Amino acid sequence: MNKPRVFVTRSLLEPGLSLVQSYCEAEIWPEPLPPERPVLLERLRGMDGLLCMLTDRIDAEVMDAAGGSLKVISNCAVGVDNIDLAAATARRIPVGNTPGVLTEATADMAFALLLAAARRLPEGEREVRTGGWKTWSLDYLLGADLVGATLGIVGFGRIGRAVARRAMGFGMRVVFTDPNPAAPEPGVQATQVDLETLLRESDFVSLHCPLTDATRNLMNAAAFEKMKPTAILVNTARGAVVDQEALYDALKRRRIFAAALDVTVPEPLPPNHPLLTLPNCLITPHIASASRRTRSEMSRLAAENLIAGLKGERLPHCVNPEVYS
Ligand code: DGY
Repeated sequence: MNKPRVFVTRSLLEPGLSLVQSYCEAEIWPEPLPPERPVLLERLRGMDGLLCMLTDRIDAEVMDAAGGSLKVISNCAVGVDNIDLAAATARRIPVGNTPGVLTEATADMAFALLLAAARRLPEGEREVRTGGWKTWSLDYLLGADLVGATLGIVGFGRIGRAVARRAMGFGMRVVFTDPNPAAPEPGVQATQVDLETLLRESDFVSLHCPLTDATRNLMNAAAFEKMKPTAILVNTARGAVVDQEALYDALKRRRIFAAALDVTVPEPLPPNHPLLTLPNCLITPHIASASRRTRSEMSRLAAENLIAGLKGERLPHCVNPEVYS
């Protein structure tokens, strides 16, 4: 029997790679950069499945490029804002994602960014490398304290709750906002508030919401005006949740103290981007889930979703379950 044909838009880690290759005839894009759109459209022709990355924009045109044969789209990420879910549902194509396995790695990264921005690690490191460090002095590179500070978590899903758990260990008070919050984990004290209260009361604001029409540019000029001048913004969610021009202005005017971003618009951020001129803005290259175990687990879940879809089974992690009704 012929194996189902799938296009995979970037090389996979084990065990995902072996799973895909054992069940499918897989065409795996070998380049380090994503396939350009015309290539994606051309390679998809006649494919039964697509395993894609968050860097691939998957819309109706891409789905139709397969010529009606596409049975499943498996995104190797938990966020699915790169996929037109309505278009997939209209075509009865289930879309899979990789929740759960990147929770702890992403929460670790949020805390790494929070600490780095609070204690001005990038500035300090630059001082050492460039000879700016002349002596120890009482007022040199003063940063923010965590103990007793309030952490505002926007989006209290798996990752937001894992960040709250970490905050307990640092002696922080936690407030959160979420339209559909899950209960805090046992032993975690966290209070639900509205966004305005969160912005006004928080010393640190950490973003963990998905990118939707409701959250696009949520952190805009009006939001920064509500924050404390000593506050620090951390974003490991999606770049477009933050209005970057407003952020630049808020950081430049010291309307807020600092920002630490793992996600930006665009990605990669051009090296001449204004945000990169600011000493109080730390930017990393979307690596919150980039631990060996996490990325390997993401590959495995993406492969399992793909294979289930090809078999006509329900995807283990489906973001548009309406396709089954
Ligand atoms: C995701 O899975 O959505 C993350 O952004 C990947 O790091």
